[in-house]
Amino acid sequence: MWGGRFSKSINDQFAYLNNSFRFDWRLYAADIRGSVAYAKELARSEIITDAERDALIDGLQRVKQEFDARTFESNPSTPLRVSDEDIHTAVERRLGELVGAVAGKLHTGRSRNDQVATDARLFTLDAISNLQSPISDLQRALVEKSEQHLDLIMPGYTHVQRAQPVLFAHWLMAYFWMLQRDAERLRDCAARVAVLPLGAGAIAGNALGIDREFLARELGFARVSENSIDAVSDRDFIAEFLFAAALIGIHLSRLGEDLVYYSSAEFGFITMDDAYATGSSLMPQKKNPDAMELARGKAGRLIGNLMTLLTVLKGLPSSYDKDLQEDKEPLFDTVDTLSALLPVVAGVIRTMRVNANALRAALDPAMLATDLADYLVRRGIPFRDAHRLAGQAVKRAETLGVALSELSLAEYKTIAPEFGADVQRVFDFAQSLAAREVSGGTGPHAVRAQIAQARTIIERVA
Ligand code: ARG
Repeated sequence: MWGGRFSKSINDQFAYLNNSFRFDWRLYAADIRGSVAYAKELARSEIITDAERDALIDGLQRVKQEFDARTFESNPSTPLRVSDEDIHTAVERRLGELVGAVAGKLHTGRSRNDQVATDARLFTLDAISNLQSPISDLQRALVEKSEQHLDLIMPGYTHVQRAQPVLFAHWLMAYFWMLQRDAERLRDCAARVAVLPLGAGAIAGNALGIDREFLARELGFARVSENSIDAVSDRDFIAEFLFAAALIGIHLSRLGEDLVYYSSAEFGFITMDDAYATGSSLMPQKKNPDAMELARGKAGRLIGNLMTLLTVLKGLPSSYDKDLQEDKEPLFDTVDTLSALLPVVAGVIRTMRVNANALRAALDPAMLATDLADYLVRRGIPFRDAHRLAGQAVKRAETLGVALSELSLAEYKTIAPEFGADVQRVFDFAQSLAAREVSGGTGPHAVRAQIAQARTIIERVA
C-alpha cells in the first residue's frame, strides 16, 4: 500500500506489533459501507466512470459477503500471517484480486486517516443503537418485578445500616432511573458521533472537489466535520461512548452488590434462580451469585477501557498518530462486555425470588425513630429537639434491651411529656410509608405513579 519509497520489507516482529487486522476486521461492514459511498461520490464528481463505480461496488459487495460468511482469508505471506496490515488494506487487497486494476482508483483522495475515523464512527453509532434494546429490556424486567411486589416493605439502608422502611419496588426502581439516564446519555452522545470525517484526507482535506454533504447523507451522518486536522484525530466520541458504557457498568455493579448481599443467608431477601447461580467445586452446599459478581467485576473492565483511551489521547500531537490505533480494542471490548452482561442481569431480575418473610422479619421498629421525631414535631416541638428526644428513646430502649415499640408509655413520658398513649401508632411500617406520598417518595401511591411513568417510557421505546 505504501511500498514506493521503501527498499526493504517490514520486520516480522514489527509487522505483528503494527498489525491491527487481528482485531479491526470487525470494522469490515462499516469500512465497506464507507467505500461504497465513496465510490458513488467519485463517480458523481467524475473522477471515475459509472462503469468503474459499478465494478468497485460489485467487488466491495463480494468482499463483504466473504466476511459475512467468515471465508475471508487474510493474506498469509509472512510467517505471522499478518501481511494485511489492517481492515482497510485487507479490503482493498481483496478488492484488487476480485476486480483487478480498477480497485486502485477507490482510494483516490482518501486516506486511511479519514477512513478509519469514519469506520469507527459508523461502528459506534451501530453499537449505540444495538444497546438500546438490551437496556430497555433490563428496565422492563425491573418494572415487572416491581409490579409483582407492589406492597412489600423492606428495610432501606444508608451506610448499609437500617435506615427507614421503603417499598421493595421503590428500591428496585432506583435502578430503572439510573438506566434511563444511561440510555439518554448514549443517545445524546450519538449526536456527536454522527459527524462525518470522510473528506478530511490525511490531514489537509480532499483536493478533488468531492461532495462531503452527499457522503454524509449517504452514510447517515447528521453533518460533516468542520476541521480536517481535528477530524482525523478526534476520538472524543469513543471516549464519550466508553464513559457512558462505564457508567452503565457502575450502575450494574451497584445492583450486583445489593443483590450479592441480599441473597446471602444473613439477609435472605432474594433467592437467585439456579439458572443464574453456580456451585462450588469443593463445598457441596454452595450456591454462588456469580452473575451479579460478574456485573460488579465487569465494571472494572469497562472503566479500564475508558482509562486506556483517555491515556492514549493525553498529550497526543495534533492530527493523526498511530497511537490512535489503540482506540479499537477498548471500544470492541466494551461493546462485547455490555452486550453479554445486560441480558444476564435482566435474566437475574426476572427469575429471582423475593422472600417476603425475610423482608418482613428484617423490619426493626428502630427504623421508625424518624417517625417518632415527626410525632413530636406535630406536637409543636422543634425538629432538632424532637430528633434528640427520639434519639434518647432509642438509647433507653437499647439499655433496657427492648424494641423501640416496647418502651412503656411511662418511659416515653419521662423523655418528653408530649408523648401520649397514641405514640404506639407510630410503630406501623405501612403508615410510615403512607406518610411519604411526596412525589418521588416511597409512599405506595407515589411508587405506583413512578412505575406508571416508567411504563410510559419503556412503552415509548418499544
Ligand atoms: N489501522 C489504522 C488505525 O487504526 C488505520 C489508519 C492508519 N493510518 C496511517 N496513516 N497509518 O488507526
